[in-house]
Amino acid sequence: MENREQWGSRAGFILAAVGSAIGLGNIWRFPYMAYENGGGAFFIPYIFALLTAGIPFMIMEFGLGHKYKGSAPKVLAAVNSKYEWLGWVQIVIAAIIAVYYAAVIGWTMNYLGFAIDGAWGTDTKGFFFGEYLGLTSSPTELGGIRWPIFGACALTWGLTWLACNSGIRGGIERACKILIPLLFALVLVFIGRVITLPGATVGLDFLFTPDFSKLTDFGVWAAAYGQIFFSLSIGFGIMIAYSSYLPKNADICNNAAMTVFINCGFSMLAGIMIFSVLGSMAHSTGQAVSDVAGAGVGLAFVTIPAAINTMPAPLFFGTVFFLCLTMAGVSSHISIVEAVASSLIDKFGASRQKAVTVLCIVGFSLTAVFTTGAGLLILDIVDHFINNICLLFAALVEIVLISWVIGLDEVREDVNAHSDFSVGKLWAFSLRIITVLVLGYSFLSSLYNKIT
Ligand code: PHE
Ligand code: NA
Repeated sequence: MENREQWGSRAGFILAAVGSAIGLGNIWRFPYMAYENGGGAFFIPYIFALLTAGIPFMIMEFGLGHKYKGSAPKVLAAVNSKYEWLGWVQIVIAAIIAVYYAAVIGWTMNYLGFAIDGAWGTDTKGFFFGEYLGLTSSPTELGGIRWPIFGACALTWGLTWLACNSGIRGGIERACKILIPLLFALVLVFIGRVITLPGATVGLDFLFTPDFSKLTDFGVWAAAYGQIFFSLSIGFGIMIAYSSYLPKNADICNNAAMTVFINCGFSMLAGIMIFSVLGSMAHSTGQAVSDVAGAGVGLAFVTIPAAINTMPAPLFFGTVFFLCLTMAGVSSHISIVEAVASSLIDKFGASRQKAVTVLCIVGFSLTAVFTTGAGLLILDIVDHFINNICLLFAALVEIVLISWVIGLDEVREDVNAHSDFSVGKLWAFSLRIITVLVLGYSFLSSLYNKIT
């Protein structure tokens, strides 16, 4: 316990936490969530969720990791051995995400190559689903390994292995110190160029023009909460693991607020980037922005390539866009694997090298399923299940257990011990009442939708 690894600096820790938070979710999920849930009006529930759930929950997870110096199962066991199972549930969810998230990063790597050699052609939809994924007609019909995807996934797991195997300071912190500043720089350069294209501002109007009627729809509020949890990597034991490597006198509240604001600022930038691109494409093809805005996987791998085809300097826009996705993805993947690895190290006393190596080999073998022709179909099912059921369930159980059963006093004491600002009643109220109610409602309604 005394010789637990530590981050080299405060900036290093924040960059790593931000690296976990900023991921594929910010670049393709946030913009279309905002667009589908009321455009500019979505920012109201989003900011409400950020203040009432994002920051308080982040403070709680940082506080737990910092106080008990361990991964989620160890922290929960330290609080009360009855609750260790919850930590493992979170770690299993994290491990499942690590397996399929790697496949999507593999696609972004392949697309980085395609941006350079122009392989996606003019029919970007046919190319993605046909030539590239070789999509089969059902999830049980595997249709063989797609070797370029397989290779890119091996590279993803290899990079994650390299970072996690080299340790907190020498691996993860070092990787994020390069990836995250570079990511911000590239996104800013991209925006600086794309914003001058005709039609770009029409795309932005489209994203930011509020539809206030959506605010009475409770689903929109639930969507904002779901997006905040996924985007901030909270509820999976990830931020608990990262904060367990903080030095004793770390300022928890400040670190948490910084992580949350930097992540959400990046989401805004990503929204501006995507919708400028869509606006520019709508302008040059004479369509409406709403007709070109797709969602989810299709947005990044079908719509954006098609848009890039219509833009000047496609080589520049294409490589920068997919490089950004790759970097954002890898830094998140590292954090997911680290959360699992640190739990194994804490529980079984395995060496870091052994835990990380075994995990990466097993993880990659499972990712291989997603590199077959049925990959996307299986991924859709797993991702839907994880996002709509498991994630909400794990976060809900964590929050109920900690804020009601165990109580927030001990964490609060630790958090307030070395902080510029301290948390009190409002923090506890956000966690115990607001977050519990919204998460509970979201969980029950998505369970209900599943059953009916
Ligand atoms: N927060 C990351 C994103 O927005 C994804 C992620 C989810 C990372 C869960 C870790 C755990 O893409
Ligand atoms: Na990331």
